[in-house]
Amino acid sequence: MAKKPKTIYVCQSCGHEHPRWSGRCPQCGEWNTLAETVVSRSPMAHRGRKPPEKPRSLILSEVTSRSGDRISTGIGEFDRVLGGGLVPGSVILLAGEPGIGKSTLLLQVAAAVGTRQQEIGSSTKEKTNAYSLMPNAYPSALYVSGEESPSQIKLRADRLGIGTDNIQVLAETDVDMIVGLVENRGQKTEDSVLRLRSGLPPSDIRLLVVDSVQTLTTTDLSAGAGTISQVRECSQRLIQLAKSKDIPLILVGHVIKGGAIAGPKVLEHMVDAVLYLEGDKFHKFRLLRSHKNRYGSDQEVGVFEMGDRGLSEVANPSDNFLSERLKNTPGSVVTATMEGTRPVLVEIQALVSSTNLSHPRRATSGFSYNRLLTIIAVLQKRTKINLQNKDIYVNVAGGFKVSEPAADLACALAIVSSVKDKPIDSQTCAFGEVGLSGEVRKVSQSERRAKEAKKLGFKKIISPEKARSLQEAMEKILNPKFEAPNKS
Ligand code: TYD
Ligand code: MG
Repeated sequence: MAKKPKTIYVCQSCGHEHPRWSGRCPQCGEWNTLAETVVSRSPMAHRGRKPPEKPRSLILSEVTSRSGDRISTGIGEFDRVLGGGLVPGSVILLAGEPGIGKSTLLLQVAAAVGTRQQEIGSSTKEKTNAYSLMPNAYPSALYVSGEESPSQIKLRADRLGIGTDNIQVLAETDVDMIVGLVENRGQKTEDSVLRLRSGLPPSDIRLLVVDSVQTLTTTDLSAGAGTISQVRECSQRLIQLAKSKDIPLILVGHVIKGGAIAGPKVLEHMVDAVLYLEGDKFHKFRLLRSHKNRYGSDQEVGVFEMGDRGLSEVANPSDNFLSERLKNTPGSVVTATMEGTRPVLVEIQALVSSTNLSHPRRATSGFSYNRLLTIIAVLQKRTKINLQNKDIYVNVAGGFKVSEPAADLACALAIVSSVKDKPIDSQTCAFGEVGLSGEVRKVSQSERRAKEAKKLGFKKIISPEKARSLQEAMEKILNPKFEAPNKS
């Protein structure tokens, strides 16, 4: 039996090492911070290994880059967020709240990545030959689930209506079993010679998905699944596997209440890309946001819609977010917000009603509460609109969340429109940051925002270039004669 590796307890706060567990770190005095960590792997692993070669540096220009080898997932929005597809050997952490659609998205990606069906028709003679000699050699995705059984995954796949020939499933939580299974693929010499000669990738696994990292364990550690030490050790083993086998790996990570990925922050440093799947469970839209990406821009956002058959791409988000808008109602203003590199038009709604409460109510949905309080204060002070005895509710339609200050102006104008009970021309789009002196400040990508608005038929654009102050913007929207100077 393999010897159990030596473990020590490391304080997650100060890094102090301790041979035994204790409730309090003797070094820094913090409670409950000692986590079990493997010191070295089994000594047997080092025996018989060749002495390390002398390190050799390379001229960067001589290094062959492999950017052309990206694997397309066939899901345009997903590829775009990744920077053009999956890079072999890269590790992606997909995080999101429970029930938001992580497993659904990855099952769809897994189905699209496998090429069993496609390659039979389009492959060269040599490839076809190699496949017929190795019946299990078709590149497919391996979907490892620690949360669902194969039959549950099959049920979901049937619901989604995706091809299931391209996906291998494994219900396993022991990380060493997963590593063992992937390691042994394509190891038979005749297989690898055939693969090499026919130009096939070295392994038949084209993508490895592990759902989720919090369910994984290794028997080398006695800590339970989901603890910091297990999550870190198991991810490290999978990451090493992905790099050595050149297989892209997608790890699913749960998000804890505060919005952070459960487990150590260090996980985010270990992986190549961190993607968040966000959205409101009660709305159909889901945003796939990149927080870190070593192989592409971290500004990209993919927009999906959750339907009966899983997630589908939303090619034109603005159209979707505005589809249910009631025109010519007071308190509704459209703004152009940047989602990554793309402008998206959303409707900001405000409802202002009189109240007898000494502390009037202010509530927001999809908009920052603190920004609303600031905007109310600026409106009261700089435009002399009395909002003292008014309840104010602000909502971003469609379950969208706006985090940019560029939406300030639209929020302020929506409140003004609701107070005065005057609808704003439905072809108006407003964006700009509201400063404390009542000035409207410039925002990034102003031209792109205006262009998107014009594309969707908005004739009046109120931007920081057109209105320097909140007062000016208000006069423009309340004066029907106002026309944009360069209307198209
Ligand atoms: P799931 O992918 O299981 O979420 P996660 O893995 O992030 O926890 O998504 C489950 C939710 O998605 C569930 O509430 C039902 C919904 N759903 C649909 O609306 N349509 C579908 O086709 C599928 C498969 C799920
Ligand atoms: Mg899931």
